[in-house]
Amino acid sequence: MSNVRMEIIAKPRQVTQRVREWRKQGLKVALVPTMGNLHAGHTTLVERAHECADRVVVSIFVNPLQFGPNEDFQAYPRTPKEDHQLLEQFKTDLLFAPEVSDLYPHGMHSHTKVEVPDLSDLLCGALRPGHFVGVATVVAKLFNVVQPDVALFGEKDFQQLAVIRRMAADLCMPLEVLGIPTVRDADGLAMSSRNRYLDATQRALAPTIYRVLNEVKTALQQGRRDYAVLQQVAAQQLNQLGFNTDYVAVRDISTLNAPEENPKALVILVAARLGKARLIDNLVVQLG
Ligand code: PAJ
Repeated sequence: MSNVRMEIIAKPRQVTQRVREWRKQGLKVALVPTMGNLHAGHTTLVERAHECADRVVVSIFVNPLQFGPNEDFQAYPRTPKEDHQLLEQFKTDLLFAPEVSDLYPHGMHSHTKVEVPDLSDLLCGALRPGHFVGVATVVAKLFNVVQPDVALFGEKDFQQLAVIRRMAADLCMPLEVLGIPTVRDADGLAMSSRNRYLDATQRALAPTIYRVLNEVKTALQQGRRDYAVLQQVAAQQLNQLGFNTDYVAVRDISTLNAPEENPKALVILVAARLGKARLIDNLVVQLG
């Protein structure tokens, strides 16, 4: 960790140059990609980054390529001043904060895309066509600009982490991808920038997702394997309370496909809309 003030750079080439200087000094570099509006989930990633590297780069970029035409790209909360303060507090060395034109100089549509098949097509990928192509493409660009030794991502976005791990492995990207456990509010709600969209009543209801996840987890630990029933009952429970559930899914932890026989570890994933927010969460279940 260095004591120098945080540097803020918008231009990719300047970031590459700065990191190259660090690397010449033999320093290890970590990258934490974000879309800003930072909360304790993000700052936990920054803290962990300091534990595994000498210099920490955070990127803030609300990536238009991963938003669908009817999604919240315009409305997505942007809070640069607060973000800068928080990142300084957490001793970030370099903030990479490009404009859309810095990363997509020829526009998004004619841009080269990175596609991770299969993993990108199920669950959130099926409901948000093109979303994971947008994520994989921008993360590949960030990796190339920063060239970090290690990049950190939250397990909260479980499918995203799986897509990024696969991309890095498939394309032989010379870095380590590290997943960090989900950071929750005291009542169990997974922290998310989109929690801002909830009004007080919805916010009080939102932790039900975590409660339902835990109920399914207990059922699986008790030996239940009737996944379809478990999923349906959990979704009904949420819908009766006012959620609009996209899916509750019990899946294989690495392929995210339906579980094989005698699974050792499963993941329960939920995506549910509540008012203007689309909330996602998940829970890993070790079955020994
Ligand atoms: P964003 O939603 O800002 O999240 C940035 C990183 O913080 C992701 O790795 C996400 O999984 C992690 N994160 C968010 N909430 C968390 C929580 N409650 N606990 C732990 N980690 C959490 O995810 C994105 O941005 C974008 O898709 C991005 C990867 C930056 C590509 O544009």
